[in-house]
Order: sequence, then C-alpha cells, then structure tokens
Amino acid sequence: MLRTHTCGELRDKDAGSTATLCGWVDTWRDFGGLVFLDLRDRYGITQVVVNPDHGQEMHDLARTLRSEDVIQVTGNVAMRPDDMANPNLATGEIDVKATELKLLNRSKTPPFEPGTNDPPGEELRLRHRFIDLRRHSLQEAMILRHRFTKLVRDYFDQQGFLDIETPILGRSTPEGARDYLVPSRVHPGCFYALPQSPQIYKQILMVAGFDRYMQIARCFRDEDLRADRQPEFTQIDVEMAFVSRDDILETVDGLIRYVMQELRGETVPEIPRLNHADVMEKYGSDKPDLRYGMELVDIGEIAGGCGFGVFSKTIESGGRVRGLNAPQAAEKYSRKMIDELTEFVGEYQAKGLAFFRVAEEGLDSPIAKFFSAEEQQAIITKFEARPGDLLFFVADKPVVTSAALAALRSRLGKELELYDPDQLHFSWVLNFPLVTYNEEEGRWDAEHHPFCSPVEEDVPCFETDPSKIRAESYDLVINGYESASGSIRIHDPAVQQKVFDLLGINADEAERRFGFLLESLRYGAPPHGGLALGLDRWVMLLLGFDNIRDVIAFPKTQKASDLLSGAPSEVDGRQLRELKIKHDR
Ligand code: AMO
Ligand code: AMP
Repeated sequence: MLRTHTCGELRDKDAGSTATLCGWVDTWRDFGGLVFLDLRDRYGITQVVVNPDHGQEMHDLARTLRSEDVIQVTGNVAMRPDDMANPNLATGEIDVKATELKLLNRSKTPPFEPGTNDPPGEELRLRHRFIDLRRHSLQEAMILRHRFTKLVRDYFDQQGFLDIETPILGRSTPEGARDYLVPSRVHPGCFYALPQSPQIYKQILMVAGFDRYMQIARCFRDEDLRADRQPEFTQIDVEMAFVSRDDILETVDGLIRYVMQELRGETVPEIPRLNHADVMEKYGSDKPDLRYGMELVDIGEIAGGCGFGVFSKTIESGGRVRGLNAPQAAEKYSRKMIDELTEFVGEYQAKGLAFFRVAEEGLDSPIAKFFSAEEQQAIITKFEARPGDLLFFVADKPVVTSAALAALRSRLGKELELYDPDQLHFSWVLNFPLVTYNEEEGRWDAEHHPFCSPVEEDVPCFETDPSKIRAESYDLVINGYESASGSIRIHDPAVQQKVFDLLGINADEAERRFGFLLESLRYGAPPHGGLALGLDRWVMLLLGFDNIRDVIAFPKTQKASDLLSGAPSEVDGRQLRELKIKHDR
C-alpha cells in the first residue's frame, strides 16, 4: 500500500505517530513560509503542513502544487493548537507535519473544483464526470447506493431468495415503452431487444421451480425522460411462487423495515394499504405524497345550483368541481402568485383556477358574489376551513380535475412546507384497474402489463364493462414517487387468452411476441406473483435528492446521451456492412 492511513482516519489519539497519506490536493494556501495543503480522498480531508525547515526541496515542490494534483505525504501527526482546530472536519484536531512529499501525478487545471459550494451546470459536470464524482454529495450517493444494494441482497438471501441472472440480449418484453434494439450479425435483419424488465424470464423461473427469485437487474427503455426516469435504470426484481398478494406485500414490508433500521435506525410504522379508487378520489393521483393531508373535496352538490356559470355548467355537462384547502395560505399568495398557479394548472389542461380566501365573515374572492351566504357556509363546512385558509377549485372533466389538483397539491405542499423533507412515507396502492381505454387508438391498454391477474370476482366484467375489472396489482409509493410496482400473475392459459382478447392481441400475435412464456404456462405453472422496486429512485429518496442522475455514476441526459463518452455515436462503415445495415440519415 502506498499509504498507512486514509485522509479521514487520523484523530487526536494518533498525535505523535508517523503516517503516510495519499490523495488529491483539495485546497492549498502558500504563506511564503508554511504551505498548508488540504489532502482529500473518499474518506475525508486531512490538513498537511509543509515547513521549509523540514526540507527545502520538499517545500519548493509543495509551492507548485495545485488543485487535484495527486500526492503522497509522510509526516508526523501533531495536535493543532486549540484555536486552530476545525470542528467541521472529522480530522480537525490534528494535522500532518510533512517530512516527505512525493508528486504522484499532476492534474490539468480542473474545469471546476470538487470542493466548490456552487457547482457549475449539469452539462459541464457530466462531461467531466470523473471530477464531478469527486464531489462530496456524489461520493455519499455512491456509498449509500452500495450499502443499500448490499442490504437488499442480504435481506433476500436471509429469506431464501436466489439471485438468478436473466439475459440482456433477449426478445422484446411487454412493459409498454419503446425497445432498444441490437442487430444480430449472425442473423441479418434480426434484432435482439434489451430487456425493459426481466418480467417474462422471471415468470419462467417460477414455472421452472425457483420459487423465490431476486435480481438487481438493469432495464432499458427508450422513452421520454424526466427527473425521475433514465433510459437505463436498475430494478430490484422479485418473483415468488405459491403465494398470495399479502405474502408479497409482507415480504417487501420486511425489506423496508430492515433497510430503514440499518440505514437510519428508524422503526417504520404499519405501512398503509390503500385502494386505487379511493386514492384517486382523495388525491387525484395514484402516487400521492402522504406526508401531508390536503385532500381533494368535491363540491358538485353546491356547484350545481350556484350562480357561477363556470361551475354550474360544468356540472350540467357531466363534469366535476373539486377543490383543496391550502391551510393558512390566504395571506401568503398574492393575486399575481395565484395567476401563476392558474398558469401552472393550465399545463394540466385546467381552463382556470377559482379561489376563495376564507375570512371571519365568509369567503373573499372576485367570484364570491355568485355564491349565497348559505352556499359560502356550506363550502366552508365541507373543507373544514378556518379564517386564513385559501381554497382553490377546478371545474372540468373528471380526469382534468384530478390531474390539475394533484399537481397543485404537490406544489402547494412544497411551497407551504407541509412536510418534513427528511421523512420517508411508505404506502401501498392496491387494485389498479386492469385496463384503461386508449381514446386515440380506440382500444383497451394494459394498465401495467398483460400478465397481471384480474381480481377473481371482477372476471364477469370482461363481458360487461372492462373498465371495472380490477387487477391484483400493487404499487409502493414513497413521498409521491412510484417506487415499486407488481402484481399476481395469470397462470391459467384460458384467463391469459381472455386478457389478450380484450387487449386486441390475437392468438398469432400473442404466440409471436410471448409464445415462449405462454408455452411454459402450459407445463404446470404454479400460482405466482412479484414486483420490481426502482433502485435508483429508492436511493434518490433515501438521500432526499430530486434528480435521479445524482445517484447514478454515469447517467444519461434528457436526450439520452452520455456526455462523458459521447454515446450514442456513429460507427464504422465496416461494422454496419457486417450487420448488413444501411441507413439514410
Ligand atoms: P414497472 O415498469 O412499473 O414494472 O417498473 C418497476 C419500477 O421501476 C422503476 N422505474 C424506473 N426508474 C427509473 N427510470 C425509469 N425509466 C423507470 N421505469 C420504471 C419504478 C417502477 O415502480 N416487470 C414489472 C414489475 C413486475 O410486475 O414485477 C415492471 O417493470 O420505481
Ligand atoms: P372568468 O369568468 O373566465 O374570468 O373566470 C373567473 C374566475 O374563475 C377566474 O379566477 C378563473 O381562473 C376561474 N375559472 C375559469 N374557468 C374555470 C374552471 N374551469 N375551473 C375553475 N376555475 C375557473
């Protein structure tokens, strides 16, 4: 080893000993006489003092050192005088008086310094990711990611799960995003698809008798990216045989308890299991942030008969009028700010945002005059509103009221600081609809994927109203993010056929796309189910970050590029000829 200690290790008890450290020059101060160097590695920072009295050559070298040069220092560990101790640094009580200094490597002047409190824009950071990853927050993120992944593996191992790898070069899978394709040289004109998830393979593993499977699996989806989505991401993929839905939820509840205890020393209270339909009604979203209340309230009954045309006409035409109560926000939101919120809900198709400030003597708003004293009182009662509260309403088609108010709820929750940002709140949302109607294409689409089992008592609805069929599915929601998703699967080929029929996947197409799964189901498939947890999202939430790229060592940009390596890139003509590929870009 080139070092005896790391840069985060030395303490007052080491004073008087000799140590050798290696690391990067984080900061340097040259006082002509003494040169002070902060030496950094992933374990911490140690102050090194270079004194010309201990060697002129060493001192000359020290004076040339700049940010990110890599050095090796040997010296005596000494207590700092009391007034020089740095309480913000774990090693702040000591420094190392250099006796030997060796330059291991020079660095070009870095485009930014890892220690900066004001990091530059993301593009520059991603281009120089090797510097960016030296920043403290990213080092913490990679370390936590490692620890979390290890705990997950330990937990599933203790529960008797087997870690089994599934192919990366495979067939197109059914998660519903666009595939990344890989051309086959040996079979010109044929392509592998990178897995959107190991879904089909893990079901086949159940048929094969591996009744408890888990894998930390890479998944690839060519879809529009957002702050919580990457084209290449990691799932904690799980499948179990001979289980009911509750067995799967309890297994994951156990994982959550274990991880939260080990990582944060926190005991997780009972994790609520909520109904999809109830959650949509109360919060307008299937992944509500439940760290705070602010439920949506329907005032259809009051709105239908009121004198405000926007409301009454909406009810007449089959729409809804729903609202929410921003507690004690009346004074905090000026007219201009409310105009901004109106624009914001407009992004979710809302045509306006009505509001009332709650005063001692009733409601205060430009539209209050359209509401009688009784109607105003009825609204106050419905919202359990108190003077100082601010009520917002959207009148529109039901789906628009949900989407717009859910977005408004998130925004207000954040702006009004209605929650503790360090808290993680877990909840299950159960019984999603099996299918949703795709207006554009005029067909039914699987809400999750085509292998989710319908709730048994809803099977008659296949013939009457497919929108009423519930799936035996479940999502885990953490602080407003979908952080896991799964279902009990169909193991009966006849039921599977019913679902394909509903989705308009005819027998030929089903055979062509998923034939290998369907065939396996005919050879004694056990009842089974599972789920996948979004590992990147979990780490992001554990760290309190809101950008998934900050928990991935080498992430892709919004445009799916890797700015560090320059992928995707053009390839040699020879490679294309071998693959028999021509393109007309
Ligand atoms: P699903 O598609 O819901 O289910 O994915 C499971 C979980 O993976 C995370 N996730 C993502 N994270 C980052 N970037 C993405 N692009 C991305 N897409 C999904 C989410 C999500 O909850 N095979 C099924 C699971 C099953 O039924 O067992 C599946 O892949 O946290
Ligand atoms: P208007 O009569 O269009 O000037 O609107 C009066 C108030 O009602 C404004 O505050 C609008 O933002 C609001 N408003 C208009 N349309 C809607 C709607 N569909 N839902 C809720 N509020 C609306």
